This record gives sequence, structure tokens and C-alpha cells, in this order.
Amino acid sequence: MSANFMFESLNPKDKKAILEAVESVKKSKGDVIIQEGDDGDNFYLVESGKLICTKFLNKSDKEPTFLKEYNPGESFGELALLYNAPRAATITCSSDTCELWSLDRNTFNHIIKKAVQVKREKYDDFLERVEILKCMEKFERTKLADAFHEEWFENGDYIIRQGDKDGDRFYMIIEGTAIATKTLEPGKPAQTVKDYGPGGYFGERSLLKDTPRAANIIATS
Ligand code: CMP
Repeated sequence: MSANFMFESLNPKDKKAILEAVESVKKSKGDVIIQEGDDGDNFYLVESGKLICTKFLNKSDKEPTFLKEYNPGESFGELALLYNAPRAATITCSSDTCELWSLDRNTFNHIIKKAVQVKREKYDDFLERVEILKCMEKFERTKLADAFHEEWFENGDYIIRQGDKDGDRFYMIIEGTAIATKTLEPGKPAQTVKDYGPGGYFGERSLLKDTPRAANIIATS
């Protein structure tokens, strides 16, 4: 549970209630855990093994499309429960065996649904407007909302420092402004090279290229 952000905002009492409610499910290669179009009763967490997620993207498709692989610590099966909808994809065990924890609809609705929905709704409109995310499908964007951590900075705070090698975060501005400054010549003061406002994003470069941070990002509001 600690590896899965779906549980992040839960208090210790809720976490305990979930631990008491989950049931172990063991499956073998080829077993279908969730079938696209079925009604959904359970949410699943992967303890061990691998699973694949496939989906018929168009009505005319003869074969489903591979969407992703699930590994230990990940979870699936939340959509049908969150939105009272049929299962949106098929999940099949792809390793020799896999062990899952299954959580029933009632406990899921009672404890997790509200926290996840509030967070998804809060960021949904914002994420739709961020340019770099426009090519993602809605489902992928909601997964981003789940993974969000809000951080607050004050005017003058350094969010990123040029040359930092340990940067492991990508940032999007929900509210306020920031600037990028850069030391173009050693020994000279850093110059402002870019302004950011709400919907702006930064920090992607060093994650994509695995290089040190190329500029400072400083809060200006
Ligand atoms: P649910 O619809 O309950 O059951 C199938 C699950 O597949 C779904 O919840 C998600 O957890 C997971 N899934 C992973 N990728 C996608 C996707 N692109 N579209 C829909 N469901 C997905």
C-alpha cells in the first residue's frame, strides 16, 4: 500500500480498515482477472507477478490493443467502481503466477472513492489545459492527477537550481508565477530567460535527457 498513491491521502484508521478487508487472490498465466464490458465488483493491488491490460479501442477491431503491464505495487480496476461503469479494459495474468489483493466494492466506495474523486476532479480541468499533456488520453491524465503532490513556494524561493544533478521532479504551475534564470557566462549574474504562469511547466528537460538542471526556476509571486 505504501508504494501506491491511491492510498496516500488515507489516515491510519482507513488504512487499517483496508488491510482487514483485502483478500488474497492467486492466479496463473492466462487467467483473466477483469473482462472488458463486465460489471465490476473489486479493486485489485498487485503483490507479485505481472499482468497485462488490453482494450478494444474501436468497435471494428478484431484484436484488443495492448495498453500496459502491471507490476507489484500497482493497482487496477478502480474505474468501474469510481464511475459505476462497465470494466473499461481486460486484465490478464502474464507471468507464471501472480498474487493479488482484492478489495470489495463497498469498502472501496466507503474509504477510497471519495478521496480519489476529490483529487481527480480538482485537477481535471487544469490538466486538460497543460500543453505538454494534450496528446494524452483522459485516463492517462487522471492517473497523473492521482500522482500529483502539491508544493507551495514563496516569492523568491528557488524551485529548481541550475546544475542540480539530483532533480527527480517535473512541475506544473497551478497558481502564481515563476521565472527561469540562467548563468550564460561563468562569473556573470544569471539572466531571466523565461516567464511562467498558470498551466506553465518546467523540469521536464533533465528527466527526459537525464542531464543536470539547465536553469534556475524561481517563484515570483
Ligand atoms: P476498470 O474499468 O474497473 O477495469 C479495467 C481496468 O484497466 C481499469 O479499471 C483501469 O484500472 C485499467 N486501465 C489501464 N489502462 C487503461 C486505459 N487506457 N483505459 C481504461 N482502463 C485502463
